Amino acid sequence: MENRSQWGTRLGFLLAAMGSAIGLGNIWRFPATAYENGGGAFFIPYLFALLTAGIPFLIMEYTIGHKYRSSAPRSLGRISKGFEWVGWWQVLVSFVISTYYAVIIAWAIMYAYFSFGQQWGDDTTGFYVGEFLQVADAGVLGGLVPMIAIPLVVVWLVVLGILFKGVKKGIEVANKIFIPLLAVLFVIIVIRALTLPGAVDGLNAFFEPNWDQIWNGSVWVAAYGQIFFSLSIAFAIMITYSSYLPKKSDITNNAFITGFANSSFELLAGIGVFAALGFMAQASGQGVTDVVQGGVMLAFSVFPEIVNQMPFMSDIFGFLFFASLTLAGLSSLISISETYVAGVSEKFNISRTKSVLLGGGLAAIISFLYATKGGLNYLDTVDYFINNYGVALAGLFEVVAIAWFARELKGLQSHANSVSDIKLGTWWRICLGFITPVVLGYMMLQNLKNEIV
Ligand code: PFF
Ligand code: NA
Repeated sequence: MENRSQWGTRLGFLLAAMGSAIGLGNIWRFPATAYENGGGAFFIPYLFALLTAGIPFLIMEYTIGHKYRSSAPRSLGRISKGFEWVGWWQVLVSFVISTYYAVIIAWAIMYAYFSFGQQWGDDTTGFYVGEFLQVADAGVLGGLVPMIAIPLVVVWLVVLGILFKGVKKGIEVANKIFIPLLAVLFVIIVIRALTLPGAVDGLNAFFEPNWDQIWNGSVWVAAYGQIFFSLSIAFAIMITYSSYLPKKSDITNNAFITGFANSSFELLAGIGVFAALGFMAQASGQGVTDVVQGGVMLAFSVFPEIVNQMPFMSDIFGFLFFASLTLAGLSSLISISETYVAGVSEKFNISRTKSVLLGGGLAAIISFLYATKGGLNYLDTVDYFINNYGVALAGLFEVVAIAWFARELKGLQSHANSVSDIKLGTWWRICLGFITPVVLGYMMLQNLKNEIV
Protein backbone atom coordinates (compact mmCIF):
# COMPACT_ATOMS: atom_id res chain seq x y z
CA MET A 1 0.00 0.00 0.00
CA GLU A 2 1.17 3.51 -0.78
CA ASN A 3 1.62 5.97 2.00
CA ARG A 4 -1.63 7.86 1.79
CA SER A 5 -1.63 11.61 2.36
CA GLN A 6 -3.48 12.85 5.42
CA TRP A 7 -5.02 16.03 6.69
CA GLY A 8 -2.95 17.69 9.38
CA THR A 9 -5.88 18.54 11.64
CA ARG A 10 -9.59 17.87 11.95
CA LEU A 11 -10.25 21.57 11.42
CA GLY A 12 -8.23 21.38 8.23
CA PHE A 13 -10.48 18.66 6.87
CA LEU A 14 -13.63 20.49 7.95
CA LEU A 15 -12.52 23.73 6.33
CA ALA A 16 -11.66 21.93 3.11
CA ALA A 17 -15.03 20.16 3.06
CA MET A 18 -16.81 23.44 3.80
CA GLY A 19 -14.69 25.08 1.15
CA SER A 20 -15.99 22.60 -1.36
CA ALA A 21 -19.57 22.92 -0.21
CA ILE A 22 -19.67 26.68 0.08
CA GLY A 23 -19.53 28.02 -3.44
CA LEU A 24 -21.40 29.80 -6.15
CA GLY A 25 -24.40 27.61 -5.36
CA ASN A 26 -24.77 29.30 -1.99
CA ILE A 27 -24.34 32.80 -3.25
CA TRP A 28 -26.29 32.96 -6.46
CA ARG A 29 -28.25 29.75 -6.71
CA PHE A 30 -29.89 29.45 -3.29
CA PRO A 31 -31.46 32.92 -2.89
CA ALA A 32 -33.36 32.91 -6.18
CA THR A 33 -34.27 29.22 -5.88
CA ALA A 34 -35.78 29.74 -2.44
CA TYR A 35 -37.63 32.84 -3.59
CA GLU A 36 -39.14 31.14 -6.63
CA ASN A 37 -40.14 28.04 -4.73
CA GLY A 38 -42.28 29.36 -1.94
CA GLY A 39 -40.07 31.93 -0.19
CA GLY A 40 -40.36 31.33 3.55
CA ALA A 41 -42.31 28.15 2.88
CA PHE A 42 -39.34 26.73 0.97
CA PHE A 43 -37.54 26.16 4.24
CA ILE A 44 -39.75 23.17 4.99
CA PRO A 45 -38.84 21.08 1.94
CA TYR A 46 -35.31 22.45 2.19
CA LEU A 47 -34.81 21.31 5.78
CA PHE A 48 -36.49 18.02 5.01
CA ALA A 49 -34.13 17.45 2.10
CA LEU A 50 -31.13 18.41 4.23
CA LEU A 51 -32.03 15.97 6.99
CA THR A 52 -33.35 13.05 4.94
CA ALA A 53 -30.93 13.19 2.01
CA GLY A 54 -28.15 15.75 2.31
CA ILE A 55 -26.62 14.86 5.63
CA PRO A 56 -27.31 11.09 5.40
CA PHE A 57 -25.66 11.03 1.96
CA LEU A 58 -22.73 13.05 3.24
CA ILE A 59 -22.28 10.61 6.12
CA MET A 60 -22.32 7.78 3.59
CA GLU A 61 -19.65 9.41 1.42
CA TYR A 62 -17.43 10.26 4.39
CA THR A 63 -17.74 6.67 5.58
CA ILE A 64 -16.90 5.22 2.16
CA GLY A 65 -13.80 7.38 1.84
CA HIS A 66 -12.72 6.69 5.40
CA LYS A 67 -13.29 2.96 5.22
CA TYR A 68 -11.80 2.28 1.78
CA ARG A 69 -9.13 5.01 1.86
CA SER A 70 -9.27 5.69 -1.85
CA SER A 71 -10.61 8.13 -4.39
CA ALA A 72 -14.18 7.60 -5.58
CA PRO A 73 -13.54 5.11 -8.42
CA ARG A 74 -11.32 2.85 -6.39
CA SER A 75 -13.46 3.11 -3.23
CA LEU A 76 -16.60 2.16 -5.10
CA GLY A 77 -14.64 -0.52 -6.97
CA ARG A 78 -13.59 -1.98 -3.63
CA ILE A 79 -17.19 -2.21 -2.51
CA SER A 80 -17.89 -4.14 -5.68
CA LYS A 81 -15.74 -4.53 -8.77
CA GLY A 82 -18.71 -3.72 -10.98
CA PHE A 83 -19.13 -0.22 -9.52
CA GLU A 84 -15.84 1.41 -10.33
CA TRP A 85 -17.50 3.08 -13.33
CA VAL A 86 -19.92 4.93 -11.02
CA GLY A 87 -16.89 6.61 -9.51
CA TRP A 88 -15.50 7.43 -12.94
CA TRP A 89 -18.83 8.88 -13.99
CA GLN A 90 -18.68 11.21 -11.00
CA VAL A 91 -15.09 12.10 -11.76
CA LEU A 92 -16.07 12.90 -15.32
CA VAL A 93 -18.92 15.14 -14.19
CA SER A 94 -16.52 16.93 -11.85
CA PHE A 95 -13.98 17.29 -14.63
CA VAL A 96 -16.52 18.91 -16.91
CA ILE A 97 -17.73 21.27 -14.16
CA SER A 98 -14.18 22.31 -13.37
CA THR A 99 -13.65 23.47 -16.95
CA TYR A 100 -16.34 26.13 -16.66
CA TYR A 101 -16.21 26.83 -12.94
CA ALA A 102 -12.71 28.16 -13.55
CA VAL A 103 -14.03 30.57 -16.16
CA ILE A 104 -16.64 32.01 -13.83
CA ILE A 105 -13.95 32.62 -11.24
CA ALA A 106 -11.90 34.40 -13.91
CA TRP A 107 -14.92 36.65 -14.59
CA ALA A 108 -15.25 37.37 -10.87
CA ILE A 109 -11.60 38.40 -10.67
CA MET A 110 -12.08 40.85 -13.54
CA TYR A 111 -15.24 42.21 -11.98
CA ALA A 112 -13.46 42.73 -8.66
CA TYR A 113 -11.13 44.97 -10.61
CA PHE A 114 -13.96 46.63 -12.60
CA SER A 115 -15.59 47.58 -9.28
CA PHE A 116 -13.11 50.40 -8.86
CA GLY A 117 -14.75 53.32 -10.58
CA GLN A 118 -17.57 51.10 -11.87
CA GLN A 119 -15.79 50.37 -15.12
CA TRP A 120 -18.84 48.46 -16.34
CA GLY A 121 -20.63 51.76 -16.97
CA ASP A 122 -24.35 52.47 -16.74
CA ASP A 123 -25.67 49.66 -18.90
CA THR A 124 -24.39 46.73 -16.88
CA THR A 125 -26.17 44.02 -18.85
CA GLY A 126 -25.02 45.45 -22.15
CA PHE A 127 -21.47 45.63 -20.86
CA TYR A 128 -21.49 42.06 -19.53
CA VAL A 129 -23.01 40.40 -22.56
CA GLY A 130 -21.72 42.71 -25.25
CA GLU A 131 -18.34 44.09 -24.31
CA PHE A 132 -17.14 41.55 -21.80
CA LEU A 133 -18.41 38.23 -23.17
CA GLN A 134 -18.71 39.53 -26.75
CA VAL A 135 -21.61 37.19 -27.34
CA ALA A 136 -22.70 38.89 -30.55
CA ASP A 137 -19.28 38.46 -32.19
CA ALA A 138 -19.32 34.73 -31.75
CA GLY A 139 -18.45 32.70 -34.75
CA VAL A 140 -18.08 28.98 -34.29
CA LEU A 141 -14.94 29.67 -32.35
CA GLY A 142 -14.64 33.38 -31.96
CA GLY A 143 -11.08 33.93 -30.82
CA LEU A 144 -9.88 34.42 -27.25
CA VAL A 145 -11.08 37.35 -25.19
CA PRO A 146 -7.92 38.53 -23.40
CA MET A 147 -9.91 40.07 -20.53
CA ILE A 148 -11.12 36.56 -19.68
CA ALA A 149 -8.16 34.50 -20.80
CA ILE A 150 -5.62 36.34 -18.67
CA PRO A 151 -7.38 35.93 -15.30
CA LEU A 152 -8.14 32.35 -16.36
CA VAL A 153 -4.42 31.65 -16.58
CA VAL A 154 -4.09 33.05 -13.07
CA VAL A 155 -6.91 30.84 -11.75
CA TRP A 156 -5.29 27.68 -13.07
CA LEU A 157 -1.83 28.63 -11.86
CA VAL A 158 -3.22 29.10 -8.37
CA VAL A 159 -5.30 25.91 -8.38
CA LEU A 160 -2.68 23.66 -9.95
CA GLY A 161 -0.03 25.16 -7.68
CA ILE A 162 -2.12 24.27 -4.64
CA LEU A 163 -2.80 20.76 -5.93
CA PHE A 164 0.91 20.18 -6.63
CA LYS A 165 1.64 20.90 -3.00
CA GLY A 166 -0.61 18.08 -1.90
CA VAL A 167 -3.32 17.53 0.66
CA LYS A 168 -1.81 18.93 3.81
CA LYS A 169 0.54 21.61 2.50
CA GLY A 170 -1.65 22.61 -0.42
CA ILE A 171 -5.38 22.01 -0.06
CA GLU A 172 -5.51 22.30 3.71
CA VAL A 173 -3.39 25.44 3.95
CA ALA A 174 -5.33 27.14 1.16
CA ASN A 175 -8.69 26.47 2.79
CA LYS A 176 -7.41 27.57 6.18
CA ILE A 177 -6.81 30.95 4.58
CA PHE A 178 -9.69 31.17 2.10
CA ILE A 179 -12.62 30.10 4.26
CA PRO A 180 -12.12 32.28 7.35
CA LEU A 181 -11.36 35.20 5.04
CA LEU A 182 -14.49 34.48 3.03
CA ALA A 183 -16.58 34.40 6.20
CA VAL A 184 -15.26 37.79 7.31
CA LEU A 185 -15.74 39.43 3.92
CA PHE A 186 -19.20 38.03 3.59
CA VAL A 187 -20.35 39.18 7.00
CA ILE A 188 -19.18 42.70 6.12
CA ILE A 189 -21.13 42.58 2.86
CA VAL A 190 -24.29 41.37 4.54
CA ILE A 191 -24.13 44.01 7.25
CA ARG A 192 -23.61 46.72 4.65
CA ALA A 193 -26.49 45.39 2.56
CA LEU A 194 -28.78 45.32 5.59
CA THR A 195 -28.10 48.99 6.31
CA LEU A 196 -29.14 50.11 2.82
CA PRO A 197 -32.52 51.80 2.37
CA GLY A 198 -35.12 49.33 1.12
CA ALA A 199 -33.31 46.30 2.58
CA VAL A 200 -36.38 45.42 4.63
CA ASP A 201 -38.55 45.15 1.53
CA GLY A 202 -36.10 42.67 0.10
CA LEU A 203 -36.14 40.57 3.25
CA ASN A 204 -39.93 40.62 3.38
CA ALA A 205 -40.07 39.38 -0.18
CA PHE A 206 -37.57 36.65 0.57
CA PHE A 207 -39.17 35.33 3.76
CA GLU A 208 -42.81 35.83 2.80
CA PRO A 209 -44.17 32.27 2.80
CA ASN A 210 -46.24 31.05 -0.09
CA TRP A 211 -47.77 28.02 1.58
CA ASP A 212 -49.61 26.70 -1.48
CA GLN A 213 -46.26 25.91 -3.01
CA ILE A 214 -45.62 23.25 -0.39
CA TRP A 215 -47.94 20.89 -2.29
CA ASN A 216 -46.07 21.40 -5.52
CA GLY A 217 -43.79 18.49 -6.49
CA SER A 218 -41.40 20.71 -8.39
CA VAL A 219 -40.72 22.69 -5.22
CA TRP A 220 -39.55 19.51 -3.53
CA VAL A 221 -37.42 18.63 -6.52
CA ALA A 222 -35.88 22.10 -6.33
CA ALA A 223 -35.13 21.62 -2.62
CA TYR A 224 -33.41 18.27 -3.12
CA GLY A 225 -31.55 19.58 -6.16
CA GLN A 226 -30.29 22.56 -4.20
CA ILE A 227 -29.14 20.37 -1.31
CA PHE A 228 -27.28 17.92 -3.53
CA PHE A 229 -25.51 20.57 -5.54
CA SER A 230 -24.81 22.71 -2.53
CA LEU A 231 -23.28 19.95 -0.43
CA SER A 232 -21.09 18.76 -3.33
CA ILE A 233 -22.70 15.34 -3.00
CA ALA A 234 -22.21 12.61 -5.62
CA PHE A 235 -19.36 14.49 -7.29
CA ALA A 236 -16.66 12.13 -5.99
CA ILE A 237 -15.37 15.00 -3.89
CA MET A 238 -16.44 14.08 -0.41
CA ILE A 239 -15.28 10.47 -0.84
CA THR A 240 -11.89 11.73 -1.97
CA TYR A 241 -11.54 14.28 0.83
CA SER A 242 -12.57 11.83 3.56
CA SER A 243 -10.12 9.24 2.27
CA TYR A 244 -7.39 11.50 3.69
CA LEU A 245 -8.85 11.41 7.21
CA PRO A 246 -6.85 9.71 9.93
CA LYS A 247 -8.18 6.43 11.35
CA LYS A 248 -9.63 8.10 14.41
CA SER A 249 -12.17 10.60 13.04
CA ASP A 250 -15.71 11.33 14.08
CA ILE A 251 -17.25 10.94 10.65
CA THR A 252 -20.89 11.47 11.55
CA ASN A 253 -20.25 14.57 13.54
CA ASN A 254 -18.09 15.97 10.73
CA ALA A 255 -20.96 15.47 8.29
CA PHE A 256 -23.40 17.35 10.52
CA ILE A 257 -20.94 20.21 10.94
CA THR A 258 -20.33 20.47 7.20
CA GLY A 259 -24.04 20.35 6.43
CA PHE A 260 -25.04 22.99 8.94
CA ALA A 261 -22.15 25.29 8.07
CA ASN A 262 -23.09 25.16 4.42
CA SER A 263 -26.75 25.88 5.11
CA SER A 264 -25.90 28.72 7.47
CA PHE A 265 -23.82 30.31 4.77
CA GLU A 266 -26.63 29.81 2.32
CA LEU A 267 -29.11 31.53 4.61
CA LEU A 268 -26.69 34.38 5.18
CA ALA A 269 -26.26 34.75 1.42
CA GLY A 270 -30.03 34.80 0.95
CA ILE A 271 -30.34 37.61 3.48
CA GLY A 272 -27.50 39.62 1.96
CA VAL A 273 -28.63 39.19 -1.62
CA PHE A 274 -32.25 40.07 -0.90
CA ALA A 275 -31.35 43.06 1.25
CA ALA A 276 -29.33 44.33 -1.71
CA LEU A 277 -32.16 43.54 -4.13
CA GLY A 278 -34.60 45.42 -1.89
CA PHE A 279 -32.32 48.44 -2.04
CA MET A 280 -32.06 48.22 -5.80
CA ALA A 281 -35.82 47.90 -6.22
CA GLN A 282 -36.36 51.03 -4.17
CA ALA A 283 -33.59 52.98 -5.88
CA SER A 284 -34.96 52.18 -9.32
CA GLY A 285 -38.64 52.54 -8.41
CA GLN A 286 -39.54 48.91 -9.11
CA GLY A 287 -40.89 46.04 -7.06
CA VAL A 288 -38.55 43.44 -5.61
CA THR A 289 -40.08 40.79 -7.90
CA ASP A 290 -38.98 42.79 -10.91
CA VAL A 291 -35.34 42.77 -9.96
CA VAL A 292 -34.90 39.21 -8.66
CA GLN A 293 -32.35 37.19 -10.61
CA GLY A 294 -30.22 34.16 -9.98
CA GLY A 295 -27.12 32.72 -11.56
CA VAL A 296 -24.61 34.62 -13.61
CA MET A 297 -27.04 37.46 -14.30
CA LEU A 298 -27.41 38.15 -10.59
CA ALA A 299 -23.67 38.37 -10.12
CA PHE A 300 -22.56 40.09 -13.30
CA SER A 301 -25.50 42.25 -14.26
CA VAL A 302 -27.65 42.97 -11.19
CA PHE A 303 -24.85 43.33 -8.66
CA PRO A 304 -22.91 45.84 -10.74
CA GLU A 305 -26.18 47.78 -11.02
CA ILE A 306 -26.56 47.70 -7.25
CA VAL A 307 -23.00 48.97 -6.90
CA ASN A 308 -23.78 51.77 -9.35
CA GLN A 309 -26.69 52.90 -7.19
CA MET A 310 -24.92 52.75 -3.85
CA PRO A 311 -24.49 56.00 -1.96
CA PHE A 312 -20.87 55.72 -0.76
CA MET A 313 -17.94 53.31 -0.66
CA SER A 314 -19.59 51.47 -3.48
CA ASP A 315 -16.21 50.53 -4.97
CA ILE A 316 -15.28 48.63 -1.85
CA PHE A 317 -18.65 46.92 -1.66
CA GLY A 318 -18.33 45.72 -5.24
CA PHE A 319 -14.79 44.59 -4.69
CA LEU A 320 -15.71 42.64 -1.55
CA PHE A 321 -18.60 40.93 -3.30
CA PHE A 322 -16.51 39.76 -6.25
CA ALA A 323 -13.62 38.84 -3.99
CA SER A 324 -16.01 36.61 -2.01
CA LEU A 325 -17.20 35.02 -5.19
CA THR A 326 -13.59 34.37 -6.15
CA LEU A 327 -12.69 32.78 -2.82
CA ALA A 328 -15.85 30.67 -2.66
CA GLY A 329 -15.27 29.54 -6.23
CA LEU A 330 -11.58 28.75 -5.81
CA SER A 331 -12.07 26.48 -2.82
CA SER A 332 -14.76 24.56 -4.73
CA LEU A 333 -12.65 24.34 -7.87
CA ILE A 334 -9.76 22.92 -5.86
CA SER A 335 -12.05 20.18 -4.57
CA ILE A 336 -13.53 19.17 -7.91
CA SER A 337 -10.10 19.11 -9.50
CA GLU A 338 -8.72 16.94 -6.71
CA THR A 339 -11.23 14.19 -7.66
CA TYR A 340 -9.53 13.52 -10.98
CA VAL A 341 -6.06 14.18 -9.71
CA ALA A 342 -6.57 11.48 -7.06
CA GLY A 343 -8.50 9.12 -9.36
CA VAL A 344 -5.97 9.24 -12.17
CA SER A 345 -2.90 8.95 -9.97
CA GLU A 346 -4.33 5.86 -8.26
CA LYS A 347 -5.56 4.21 -11.41
CA PHE A 348 -2.37 4.58 -13.40
CA ASN A 349 -0.05 4.50 -10.47
CA ILE A 350 1.57 7.82 -11.30
CA SER A 351 2.75 10.60 -8.99
CA ARG A 352 0.56 13.49 -7.90
CA THR A 353 2.73 15.84 -9.91
CA LYS A 354 2.08 13.92 -13.09
CA SER A 355 -1.62 13.54 -12.51
CA VAL A 356 -1.98 17.25 -11.75
CA LEU A 357 -0.21 18.04 -15.01
CA LEU A 358 -2.27 15.53 -16.94
CA GLY A 359 -5.75 16.02 -15.47
CA GLY A 360 -5.50 19.64 -14.42
CA GLY A 361 -3.60 20.55 -17.55
CA LEU A 362 -6.27 19.06 -19.78
CA ALA A 363 -9.08 20.75 -17.84
CA ALA A 364 -7.23 24.04 -18.09
CA ILE A 365 -6.79 23.75 -21.84
CA ILE A 366 -10.45 22.88 -22.40
CA SER A 367 -11.56 25.77 -20.21
CA PHE A 368 -10.15 28.28 -22.69
CA LEU A 369 -12.95 27.27 -25.03
CA TYR A 370 -15.24 29.32 -22.80
CA ALA A 371 -12.86 32.25 -22.84
CA THR A 372 -13.60 32.83 -26.49
CA LYS A 373 -16.06 35.34 -27.91
CA GLY A 374 -19.51 34.01 -27.16
CA GLY A 375 -18.08 31.24 -25.00
CA LEU A 376 -21.05 31.84 -22.71
CA ASN A 377 -23.22 29.85 -25.09
CA TYR A 378 -21.17 26.69 -24.60
CA LEU A 379 -21.05 27.28 -20.89
CA ASP A 380 -24.82 27.54 -20.59
CA THR A 381 -25.45 24.35 -22.51
CA VAL A 382 -22.90 22.30 -20.62
CA ASP A 383 -24.12 23.63 -17.29
CA TYR A 384 -27.69 22.77 -18.16
CA PHE A 385 -26.96 19.12 -18.93
CA ILE A 386 -24.66 18.66 -15.99
CA ASN A 387 -27.22 20.06 -13.56
CA ASN A 388 -30.22 18.29 -14.95
CA TYR A 389 -28.75 14.89 -15.69
CA GLY A 390 -25.14 14.49 -14.64
CA VAL A 391 -25.67 15.16 -10.98
CA ALA A 392 -28.99 13.43 -10.35
CA LEU A 393 -27.80 10.36 -12.24
CA ALA A 394 -24.53 10.24 -10.33
CA GLY A 395 -26.39 10.33 -7.02
CA LEU A 396 -28.92 7.75 -8.12
CA PHE A 397 -26.25 5.34 -9.41
CA GLU A 398 -24.26 5.68 -6.23
CA VAL A 399 -27.04 5.18 -3.73
CA VAL A 400 -28.68 2.33 -5.64
CA ALA A 401 -25.35 0.57 -6.14
CA ILE A 402 -24.55 0.75 -2.46
CA ALA A 403 -27.94 0.24 -0.87
CA TRP A 404 -29.53 -2.26 -3.23
CA PHE A 405 -26.87 -4.03 -5.25
CA ALA A 406 -23.95 -4.26 -2.87
CA ARG A 407 -26.18 -4.21 0.23
CA GLU A 408 -23.43 -2.30 1.91
CA LEU A 409 -25.39 0.14 4.09
CA LYS A 410 -25.22 -2.03 7.20
CA GLY A 411 -21.49 -2.44 6.81
CA LEU A 412 -21.03 1.30 6.41
CA GLN A 413 -23.29 1.97 9.36
CA SER A 414 -21.22 -0.15 11.70
CA HIS A 415 -18.03 1.41 10.37
CA ALA A 416 -19.34 4.94 11.01
CA ASN A 417 -20.63 3.96 14.44
CA SER A 418 -17.28 2.47 15.41
CA VAL A 419 -15.60 5.87 15.10
CA SER A 420 -18.40 8.39 15.78
CA ASP A 421 -20.13 9.67 18.88
CA ILE A 422 -23.49 10.06 17.19
CA LYS A 423 -24.71 6.54 16.39
CA LEU A 424 -26.55 5.92 13.16
CA GLY A 425 -29.80 4.00 13.48
CA THR A 426 -32.23 2.41 11.11
CA TRP A 427 -33.46 5.87 10.10
CA TRP A 428 -30.19 6.39 8.27
CA ARG A 429 -30.66 3.28 6.15
CA ILE A 430 -34.28 4.21 5.42
CA CYS A 431 -33.23 7.66 4.21
CA LEU A 432 -30.63 6.24 1.85
CA GLY A 433 -32.29 2.98 0.87
CA PHE A 434 -35.74 4.38 0.15
CA ILE A 435 -36.32 8.11 0.38
CA THR A 436 -33.24 9.26 -1.52
CA PRO A 437 -33.51 6.85 -4.48
CA VAL A 438 -37.20 7.59 -4.87
CA VAL A 439 -36.62 11.34 -4.86
CA LEU A 440 -33.68 11.15 -7.26
CA GLY A 441 -35.62 8.87 -9.60
CA TYR A 442 -38.57 11.25 -9.53
CA MET A 443 -36.20 14.15 -10.22
CA MET A 444 -34.82 12.42 -13.30
CA LEU A 445 -38.31 11.73 -14.63
CA GLN A 446 -39.40 15.31 -14.05
CA ASN A 447 -36.39 16.65 -15.91
CA LEU A 448 -37.00 14.29 -18.80
CA LYS A 449 -40.66 15.25 -18.88
CA ASN A 450 -39.82 18.95 -19.02
CA GLU A 451 -37.55 18.15 -21.91
CA ILE A 452 -40.39 16.69 -23.95
CA VAL A 453 -43.09 19.21 -23.14
N1 PFF B 1 -21.09 22.93 -3.65
C1 PFF B 1 -20.73 24.02 -4.46
C2 PFF B 1 -21.70 25.15 -4.32
O1 PFF B 1 -22.67 25.07 -3.60
O2 PFF B 1 -21.48 26.14 -4.97
C3 PFF B 1 -20.74 23.74 -5.89
C4 PFF B 1 -19.98 22.61 -6.36
C5 PFF B 1 -18.63 22.58 -6.17
C6 PFF B 1 -20.62 21.63 -6.98
C7 PFF B 1 -17.96 21.54 -6.63
C8 PFF B 1 -19.95 20.60 -7.44
C9 PFF B 1 -18.64 20.57 -7.27
F1 PFF B 1 -18.00 19.54 -7.75
NA1 NA C 1 -22.97 24.93 -1.25
